Amino acid sequence: MFNQIKSKEKKISVIGLGYVGLPIALEFAKNVPVIGFDIKPERVEMMKNKIDPSQELSSEDFEGADIEFTDNPQDLKKADFHIVAVPTPINEHNQPDLTPLLSACKTVGQNIKKGDYVVFESTVYPGCTEEDCIPVLEKESGLKFPDDFKVGYSPERINPGDKEHTLTTIVKVVSGCDAEALDNIAKVYEMVVEAGVHRASSIKVAEAAKIIENTQRDVNIALMNELSIIFSRMNINTYEVLEAAGTKWNFLRFYPGLVGGHCIGVDPYYLVYKARELGYHPQIINSGRFVNDSMGGYIAKQLVKRIIGLQKDIRTAKVLVMGVTFKENVSDIRNSKVVDVINELKSYYIDVDVVDPYAKPEEVKHEYGIDMTDVKDNYDAIVVAVNHKEYLDLNEEYFKQIMNGKGILVDVKGIYRNKINKDNFYYWSL
Ligand SMILES: NC(=O)c1ccc[n+]([C@@H]2O[C@H](COP(=O)([O-])OP(=O)(O)OC[C@H]3O[C@@H](n4cnc5c(N)ncnc54)[C@H](O)[C@@H]3O)[C@@H](O)[C@H]2O)c1
Repeated sequence: MFNQIKSKEKKISVIGLGYVGLPIALEFAKNVPVIGFDIKPERVEMMKNKIDPSQELSSEDFEGADIEFTDNPQDLKKADFHIVAVPTPINEHNQPDLTPLLSACKTVGQNIKKGDYVVFESTVYPGCTEEDCIPVLEKESGLKFPDDFKVGYSPERINPGDKEHTLTTIVKVVSGCDAEALDNIAKVYEMVVEAGVHRASSIKVAEAAKIIENTQRDVNIALMNELSIIFSRMNINTYEVLEAAGTKWNFLRFYPGLVGGHCIGVDPYYLVYKARELGYHPQIINSGRFVNDSMGGYIAKQLVKRIIGLQKDIRTAKVLVMGVTFKENVSDIRNSKVVDVINELKSYYIDVDVVDPYAKPEEVKHEYGIDMTDVKDNYDAIVVAVNHKEYLDLNEEYFKQIMNGKGILVDVKGIYRNKINKDNFYYWSL
């Protein structure tokens, strides 16, 4: 397979051209012909015009790429090595929603032929590729696994908004259904991943590796969030404590914050689901999820207490929330926990203005029913919820100008703690 791809006798296809799929498709397309397939015609149209709908790549990134963008599943027949990178969200009960993944398996299954390879990149629980995906591929294709087609799994580690850790610069874990498949899959990825590949011993190991990377982060951030709740009661600043503790060589660098988005706050639920199916009820992972999911409400309640403490009428209080995306310097608002802060404040009848230099107002309205606005003045409190680069250099004067006298500054990520005179505000951070 690898030699034929390299010599351009065989083609690669990428199914699902989002944050993960598009960069992969374009990187391969710099070397070999690629079919880029997505179910959303409007996204395909944008990509044909060298526009990344996820706003991560520029039109230059499309230059020189030998790629055919399509929303016609039949075009997948022209390819032989298929990479699946569709979303793997959770439902309202925090359980895996495999609908997009199984639907992609159906599409791929209907269009593969004997000898083809299918490699999954979507984040899943260990066992999902073999137990859930392969049966659909077999059923739809009428082919028999592993004699007629091969399967692999290679998790994605890219980090939206991060220009340093990219597909080519991060070591990529690869796995295959047998030794020959692993070798071919590893060599195909080695064509584009300059940092090299790690050959995992099985598909399940590769699936598990990905899911624990994000679970580890989630649990560690939850610990920092819990510490922050404790330190707030002690009137000490968590970031100052972490700065001091961080001088020890083996102290791990994690910080408190709102854990949103579609990876860290979602993936642990995939592992929890599988563990439960096997009769084990995870305690630490679930506790971490609980703590992180409650931080939005916690931040809002801390602010409400402080507004009441200033003897202000909570129903006429005006609060500005700066930043609504799930993390800094991206436009992605999916599963943003800032929305929990906003909704909790609104539940106290507080008048909340929301601004963000990246988020698209129409998406925020559509997703959360929140109208974004411009920065006004006379705020009783300002919550800097996301550390966008545009906010890092804001100074004391800026906040003073838009506040109603000595107001409350909620600096969620602690970015101003060494930059402003905290005595001029009722300052609070996680
Ligand atoms: N975004 C990240 O930073 C990141 C990092 C690591 C892993 N992942 C994982 O990668 C996977 C993809 O995530 P993403 O962020 O790229 O998602 P995304 O929402 O940005 O993109 C998914 C794309 O797949 C398309 N799609 C949906 N169903 C489809 C189907 N049945 N057939 C073809 N196309 C379909 C959508 O139209 C969309 O363009 C997920 O499992 C995610 O957990 C994401």
